[in-house]
Amino acid sequence: MTDRRQFLSSAVTAAAAAALIPALGDTPARAADAGTAQGPSHRGPLVIGHRGASGYRPEHTLASYDLAARMGADFIEPDLVSTRDHVLVARHENDISGTTDVSTRPEFADRRQTRVVDGVSLTGWFTEDFTLAELKTLRAIERLPQLRQHNTLYNGLFTVPTLEEVLALRERLSLELGRDIGVYPETKHPTYFRKIGLPLEEPLVAALRRHNLDRGDAPVFVQSFELANLRRLSNQLQLRAPLVFLASATGTPWADPRPYADYLSPAGLKELSTIVSGIGPDKNLVIPRRADGSLDAPSSLVADAHAAGLLVHPYTFRAENQFLPTDLRVGTDPAAYGRAIDEHQAFLRAGVDGGFTDQPDIGVLARQLLHMTATAGGL
Ligand code: G3P
Ligand code: CA
Repeated sequence: MTDRRQFLSSAVTAAAAAALIPALGDTPARAADAGTAQGPSHRGPLVIGHRGASGYRPEHTLASYDLAARMGADFIEPDLVSTRDHVLVARHENDISGTTDVSTRPEFADRRQTRVVDGVSLTGWFTEDFTLAELKTLRAIERLPQLRQHNTLYNGLFTVPTLEEVLALRERLSLELGRDIGVYPETKHPTYFRKIGLPLEEPLVAALRRHNLDRGDAPVFVQSFELANLRRLSNQLQLRAPLVFLASATGTPWADPRPYADYLSPAGLKELSTIVSGIGPDKNLVIPRRADGSLDAPSSLVADAHAAGLLVHPYTFRAENQFLPTDLRVGTDPAAYGRAIDEHQAFLRAGVDGGFTDQPDIGVLARQLLHMTATAGGL
């Protein structure tokens, strides 16, 4: 396992990835062809570092984003929530019990709360109960210590980064690596945060403008599982950076009766294309699984979205057996890697414009190998 990871890291250096991307220049975003907003110009299906390189480092740390970019990711992905003093920080959810060492800090024992977030009652520690200064005393820990035991090596080393720190890192990495590293921020629980007086949209827009990233051609996609706040970003706040509507496999956006399935119908996609540049569907909506958990044939979603002029960036590619289709698992250890390159390539063949992945080096290698196969080349 370790050898394989080391091989993947070293075989696909940032330099190799940079050399690769121009070679994919014949795969433009189809949204441009369809005459709608394309989003950032790119030269091949995007590799989006999901929560950074969260397969190798505790998620949403600067170390995780840094590694993702060095592995060749085109974009790094911070999920955003707010502190009590209204600073945006990178966490997958406002409940920080599972991704920081807060539960071991006696000074914060009395901050443990029960809160209802998007209809779900949760007990733990929440970012909105901490000032940024207090949050900065905490340290990140691995979310999946059983599955990703190797990542526990880094427990206690890294802080919870602010959006500002992520954007500054993006600029430094772009300069150092000689290519634009994109940023793909997601507003988490936007209705909830607006309701408690800590809206996410205004500080996000302000930060993007401070960094000259509020442009149609900026290396940015702003994503949300809620359409209402994407509308707000576009209409009231006049954000020009491209937007992406995320879609779960089932259910509806929070506080919205319209099912995701309806938004993803051909007619729904046409409507979406007046607001967003792309969709970020659960990947099972792109290539469903059979009853036995194996990978089935692709659905019509990619073709339907492209017909509506929308990019398609499914989530989430993960190399461990636990997450893979049953026919791509190797052995029975849930933590062992299966045929993740094959999975990623199946989605590239289905025509996706990029994908969120916990192991960006695998996404880069899958893209590179597929391109080389198509051009009769090889490593
Ligand atoms: O934002 C794409 C993907 O990250 C959505 O899922 O829950 O990991 O934020 P989640
Ligand atoms: Ca996300």
